[in-house]
Amino acid sequence: VSFTVSSSNGNATSPYQYGFMFEDINNSGDGGVYAELIQNRAFQGNAIYPSTSDYWNPLNGASIKLANLTNPVSTALPTSLQVSKGNATDTVGFSNVGFWGFPVVAGTTYKGSFWVQGGLNGNLTVCLTSNGNQQWAEAEVSVKSSATWSQYNYTLTPSQSAPNSNNTLNFTFAASDLTNSVNFNLLSLFPPTYNNRENGLRVDLMEAMAGLYPSFFRAPGGNNVEGNAPPYWWNWTQTIGPLADRPGFPGTWGYENTDGLGLIEYMLWAQDLGMEPILAVWSGLWLNNTVLTEAELQPYIQSALDELEFLMGDASTTWGAKREALGYGPFPINFVEVGNEDSLQPVGGPTYRDYRFKDFHDAIKAKYPNMTIVASFFDVAGDAPPYNAGGDFHEYAIPVQMSSQFFYFDNYTENNPILIGEYAIIDYDSPGATGPKWNAGAGRSFTPFWYGSVAEAIFLLGAERNSQKMIGAAYAPSFQNLNKWQWIPDLVEYDAYPGHTTLSTSWYMINLLSGTRITENLPVTFTEGDYNPAYFVAGRSEVTGSHIAKFAVYNSTGDVPFSMSFQGVGGYAQGNLTYITAPMNASNPIGGNVVQTHTTTVTASRNGTFAFSLPEYSIAVFEVSAN
Ligand code: AHR
Repeated sequence: VSFTVSSSNGNATSPYQYGFMFEDINNSGDGGVYAELIQNRAFQGNAIYPSTSDYWNPLNGASIKLANLTNPVSTALPTSLQVSKGNATDTVGFSNVGFWGFPVVAGTTYKGSFWVQGGLNGNLTVCLTSNGNQQWAEAEVSVKSSATWSQYNYTLTPSQSAPNSNNTLNFTFAASDLTNSVNFNLLSLFPPTYNNRENGLRVDLMEAMAGLYPSFFRAPGGNNVEGNAPPYWWNWTQTIGPLADRPGFPGTWGYENTDGLGLIEYMLWAQDLGMEPILAVWSGLWLNNTVLTEAELQPYIQSALDELEFLMGDASTTWGAKREALGYGPFPINFVEVGNEDSLQPVGGPTYRDYRFKDFHDAIKAKYPNMTIVASFFDVAGDAPPYNAGGDFHEYAIPVQMSSQFFYFDNYTENNPILIGEYAIIDYDSPGATGPKWNAGAGRSFTPFWYGSVAEAIFLLGAERNSQKMIGAAYAPSFQNLNKWQWIPDLVEYDAYPGHTTLSTSWYMINLLSGTRITENLPVTFTEGDYNPAYFVAGRSEVTGSHIAKFAVYNSTGDVPFSMSFQGVGGYAQGNLTYITAPMNASNPIGGNVVQTHTTTVTASRNGTFAFSLPEYSIAVFEVSAN
């Protein structure tokens, strides 16, 4: 393939290009990026998922049950864990199984706390214990409980690491110190968090995200913003303030969300990784296909406006003052997405077009004229959002589909900024298949695999080549807890044991493409060849002052030779070629990596032509510094 990259007539690319989408699915919030280690810490429940004592067990003959006291720890947390000693006379207590185990890492300080009320007076021991009863770390807390609730803190610092996460957190005390029963709530244990934030995020998963160089953050994304059925929706007002004031939310993926990971935590997350928030607001649709009428919608539009005031208003505004009182300055918001995939529902689609999107759009624009409002659907087949609003395009596909989508966005106009809010190859190609299996249990790919990741790269280069129309693209879903998941494949897998965190082949693909940004796309003139089986974009970066070409080679018959030049780059210039490749069908094993990175220096010929070749199923970036 021979081509020349022009030095003029370019198009500025989107400043966002690659981003991150998050929703609590696959225990990716609770039990995932939200670093809390205790599962079911506050016995939250509702009509969809009633409160339960699951994940808690009595120890040494104690009995445990849920209790709705007349004086709970807070109105938001009405249900507590009541512990009685029964006939036990020795040490009694209870334990938590964590999010399928607890990590124990030598020298790490885990910070814990709990609220207690009732008849316990004496020392309570908190201990990280293996299933084989090895005690990794313990703390003694002198408890003097009474009719009113009080909070206690503890820390645990193991001196050796556990070989796995088969550990529990045990709370024990002498039976003789207990009169009648004692009640506990909001029992918590955190490892160190990213940027040491209180109530913060898991370090290895944040580092995994940082490695994607994400520029935008779509949250709360996906179905989880919607709610399964009335009256539950992602009500931001219930996700702010002290943890004791957050009742929790019946998530749409089969489990309760604690909402410890709330609106402010999302904003800090975006801030910590330098991401522009694309804030999703609820659009009046439940997943059971219940939709609000236009009149019923108005309080929820007001709630979205309140949310924006909460995030951006100053202390003279009602909601801005509440944020300031929590100790935070403003969080600028430039993008709001209304709902998620609203066009998919039989009632949802028409009502979204008739009034739901319009009413949110008009109200937000009236107050924030410069804000980009993103509709939750977009398809080139005539389904463009109104008012030049942005539109969210989702693509879950098989490789044969996505690898043919290099030119897909060429057909879109520049009238509506395109957000690829979710994309992924979710299944292998199979004879005759034109699309993926939608049932995650029906043999869908468990993890991303290499030729799928290369097909995704072709799709993304197609988006890059149309970057002037784009906001950017985000893989979905981002995380998978290996112990409980509803959707496969996912970008990053993990469980409670830090050594199991796995960056998928698609993670390596994004790491390469997102890590080198073209700020101006430039036209390409072929002297020989065409795009298939090599797909590429080229341009330059104002940031690094370099010329850049990015490639994906797919389904070739062998190595593909390239001969290319950048107008204005002279003879004997040098460039750095980085390409990644892996066996075609390979996926990353737990904690491992099959993707190989190759880097090499390429020197131009006397007339400025760079010659190199790339293997089949490879993704590459070639960068020539202007100097
Ligand atoms: O990413 C998983 C789900 O796929 C999202 O919740 C939804 O938006 C899409 O259908």
